[in-house]
Amino acid sequence: MNIKPIKANNESFSNLIMTEFDHMLKVLNHKTQFNQKIPGQKMQEPDLPAPKAQHIAGLMRINHTGEVCAQALYNGQALMAKDEKTKQHLIKAAQEEHDHLNWCQSRLDELGVQTSVTNPFWYAHSFAIGSLAAFFGDAISYGFVIETEKQVESHLQEHIDDIGDDDPKSLKILQQMQADEIRHGNEAKDAGGVELPDPIKRVMSGMSKIMKFVSYRV
Ligand SMILES: [Fe+2]
Ligand SMILES: [Fe+2]
Repeated sequence: MNIKPIKANNESFSNLIMTEFDHMLKVLNHKTQFNQKIPGQKMQEPDLPAPKAQHIAGLMRINHTGEVCAQALYNGQALMAKDEKTKQHLIKAAQEEHDHLNWCQSRLDELGVQTSVTNPFWYAHSFAIGSLAAFFGDAISYGFVIETEKQVESHLQEHIDDIGDDDPKSLKILQQMQADEIRHGNEAKDAGGVELPDPIKRVMSGMSKIMKFVSYRV
């Protein structure tokens, strides 16, 4: 999916709303794109006992929802970015996150499970948070990226440890995602992101726990 830069100064408010609504629908209705490289795609499907397969499907559904959130967050931040360079940085990052969305979607298809029914809520929530963070300036906005990627990287490690050798296909996807998230965090640091206050970090972590609890189940 190509996300077009949003020129907040030159477009009418209704056009911006329509563009953002279109982004949201594309993310929420994403279908696996097989023309893209997907880590582990050619690996053999592991023979998992049903409870294990269900558990891994739950973990991959969490990761899929996380990538829905990433799309919303970056789109919200790009919309409200103060300068064009920041906007372009965020749009590029969103495009890379879109690969992750595709990888998680492809794995959920293979495991035969649906994406989380709560995704529309998490998209709206993350879009609002991203817009708000960017409203306070690009340094805060990048700071938000740094903290988000740090928390995502650590939760990916938990899933990597949990899945281990049981499902090499999911493992391969998560390992590549983790490497990309670390890079995204470092790029945001280099771009001038500041460290967020601890209470904000705690709220972010709390919301992420709720998202994980719910998306694992439905
Ligand atoms: Fe990602
Ligand atoms: Fe990322």
